[in-house]
Amino acid sequence: MSSIEIAAPAKINLTLDVKGKRPDGYHDLESVMHPVTLKDKVIINTAPWGISIQSNSLDIPLNEDNLAYKAANLILSRFIADRGVQIYLDKHIPVGAGLAGGSTDAAAVLRGINELYQLELGESDLMEMALEIGSDVPFCLTGKTCLARGRGEKLVPLSAEPNLNILLVKPPFQISTREVYHNFNFDKVDCWPDNTAFIEAWNGCDIISIAKGLTNVLETVCLPWFPEIKEIKMALIEMGALNALMSGSGPTVFGIFEDKQQERLAAEYFRTRYQEVYMVSSYMRGD
Ligand code: C5P
Repeated sequence: MSSIEIAAPAKINLTLDVKGKRPDGYHDLESVMHPVTLKDKVIINTAPWGISIQSNSLDIPLNEDNLAYKAANLILSRFIADRGVQIYLDKHIPVGAGLAGGSTDAAAVLRGINELYQLELGESDLMEMALEIGSDVPFCLTGKTCLARGRGEKLVPLSAEPNLNILLVKPPFQISTREVYHNFNFDKVDCWPDNTAFIEAWNGCDIISIAKGLTNVLETVCLPWFPEIKEIKMALIEMGALNALMSGSGPTVFGIFEDKQQERLAAEYFRTRYQEVYMVSSYMRGD
């Protein structure tokens, strides 16, 4: 085998709670993370030496600043230093959107190089490297809906697999994750997620209660900075979403729809205002 192609799905945070600030500067989280069918395609070819990245996107770095490059560098230098790779990132996930676009590409590179060079590394080796690359990368390795704790690396997959109709709307600006966490203030939060109740709703495939439980404490930072995020949330609900939430550290907002036709109408409406509007659903491995 000299080439491999891996699907790299985006994620949304159905809940996101910040539990505390850690001595290492990161925050302890508790978040239900969910993969969706908007995905990048990562194609990896063997090469005699070095790492090169090409892409259809002009919005990403093609050098060592790219998380996919970091992933390749880490796994090659650790396990097969005398070989290289050529990586092509066929990007569809918007950049700087709160959808883990860079993290999912990095996870795909770890998985892809493991297979391509038959390194036979187990989950724990891959997970350890994933966390070195970024807090969302371990989740992206799983490809499954999980309750994530710690920095995002303590992952418990949820057993049920409800299929959600999700509309993603990305406003035309980016938000720095680092800045959002840096400005997070516990005193500003008046609505905390109830992850126990959320998981119960999830396991019962109770879409109404799942929608009701959507909560992200990082909205307390981003909504005052960018009122447009709140406007999109409200418009999604007006257009028939059961509920709407900002994903991760933003700025993408998603709405959950019970009715596909209503979601289609909402997508048409948002496309008259925004360039990046995606009708997606829950990702199942193999999609
Ligand atoms: O791990 P990653 O590089 O994706 O994190 C980006 C930034 O987000 C970190 O530098 C940190 O400021 C913040 N962060 C955090 N706690 C987390 C995840 C990220 O404070 N659990």
